[in-house]
Amino acid sequence: MPVLSRKAYLFGGEDPGAFAEGLSSLKGEWTFVPVRTPEDVRQSLRHGPVALGMVCLEKKETQNAFRFLSALSDTCIRWIALLGPGLAEQRDILHQVREHCIDFHRFPLDTQRLRIILGHAHGMARLSCLEPRFSDSRDHVAESDMVGSSPSMMECFRSIRKIAGTDACVLITGESGTGKELVARAIHERSKRSSGPFITLNCGAIPSNLIQSELFGYEKGAFTGAHSRKIGHIEAANHGTIMLDEIGDMPFELQVNLLRVLQFGKIQRVGSSAEIPVDVRIIAATHIDLEKACREGRFREDLYYRLHVLRVSLPPLRDRGADISLLARYFCKRFSAEYGATSKPFSAEALEVIQAYSWPGNVRELINKIKSAVLMSEGPLIEPRDLQLENIPHPAKKSGKTLREIREITERETLRETLQKFENNVSRTARELGVTRTTLYDLLKKHKLF
Ligand SMILES: Nc1ncnc2c1ncn2[C@@H]1O[C@H](COP(=O)(O)OP(=O)(O)OP(=O)(O)O)[C@@H](O)[C@H]1O
Ligand SMILES: [Mg+2]
Repeated sequence: MPVLSRKAYLFGGEDPGAFAEGLSSLKGEWTFVPVRTPEDVRQSLRHGPVALGMVCLEKKETQNAFRFLSALSDTCIRWIALLGPGLAEQRDILHQVREHCIDFHRFPLDTQRLRIILGHAHGMARLSCLEPRFSDSRDHVAESDMVGSSPSMMECFRSIRKIAGTDACVLITGESGTGKELVARAIHERSKRSSGPFITLNCGAIPSNLIQSELFGYEKGAFTGAHSRKIGHIEAANHGTIMLDEIGDMPFELQVNLLRVLQFGKIQRVGSSAEIPVDVRIIAATHIDLEKACREGRFREDLYYRLHVLRVSLPPLRDRGADISLLARYFCKRFSAEYGATSKPFSAEALEVIQAYSWPGNVRELINKIKSAVLMSEGPLIEPRDLQLENIPHPAKKSGKTLREIREITERETLRETLQKFENNVSRTARELGVTRTTLYDLLKKHKLF
């Protein structure tokens, strides 16, 4: 696999004038390759991949620059526009910039911001062009596309690759909405079981008296209402993978049956004593602390040790640094394309609140907010109010508080306001915030809002 180096094309870079100083401070980290024509770019691409480019737009030269970008629209280069004085105020220019570029920067250059965007775009390009296992567009994988370039997510991708090559049990931990199901699918799709079924069962979503028959199936006449034989989820996942979501909610008395499957690879349908051999990989997921559940006698220790032979821990979104805005841009592009809208850039304020917000519902909440922003935003940029984040304290304000303290306050305020809005209706509040009811209860407890 070719290595994607930290190179970027620079159009209009021979005499970048207004931008020369800002760009020179990035030269230690980035190599800028000056290009004048689309042919220069195509020639260079024959020698190796370059995924990024910057276009310096100056008043007289704008149409030439847009012709250059149009001629390269079939490549997967992500362009960043550097707008000379006064250009950001011209609607027609901004419109064309949005057509061709993933982001724009105005004069004078904020090199810190440019450095972050270059890093994001580079990470994104690595995933989409050069790491096809995590971003190829085969239909069934489209769902499990995982975006991230933070060290913790890179570590997670590495674990997925290693784990996919084995057949052992896996325990995936992480707060609600962090992508546990996506990880489980990714492991299955990259494993030798990929042509077999992938089945999920959310133990927290089914009444406990039904879990046994859902998992193991039943024979005709096993209980009142069992009119015919039913195959359970484990049997249905034969030669494939079963994901047991919210494993912590599995009733204690049933846990021993699951242990038997893990030990002997056999199940018994309800109402039958026959043992049926099954060949299933089990991936369990939980957002609770299973070790604590073991200490409190709610979860069998022997099952816990069997389940967590291999482990993937997903960090909460708020701890993923630059991945937060990387994901925001990714979803913005994706939903804009889905809804047939032009993908709008985020305003600088919007990017700041996106980074500062605590995202209690993690990626799922981010998705909900970006979806509604794409649909509702009316201006040229996505603003904090489009994301319903206008009350988030601006991190740059001198509040004398740490980022974590600001997040805690924001989280509490958002919870309080949303509860008030829905007259303390927990289900509607949870839906609005993009979290499960269990997570909402945990948060209410944490902030003493009961
Ligand atoms: N790194 C990521 N890149 C792209 N999309 C992601 C990523 N992580 C999560 N998602 C998306 O976020 C949503 C929530 O993910 P998922 O259902 O896997 O979370 P979960 O941890 O299983 O949540 P829960 O605990 O509530 O069941 C899904 O739509 C998923 O596709
Ligand atoms: Mg899940």
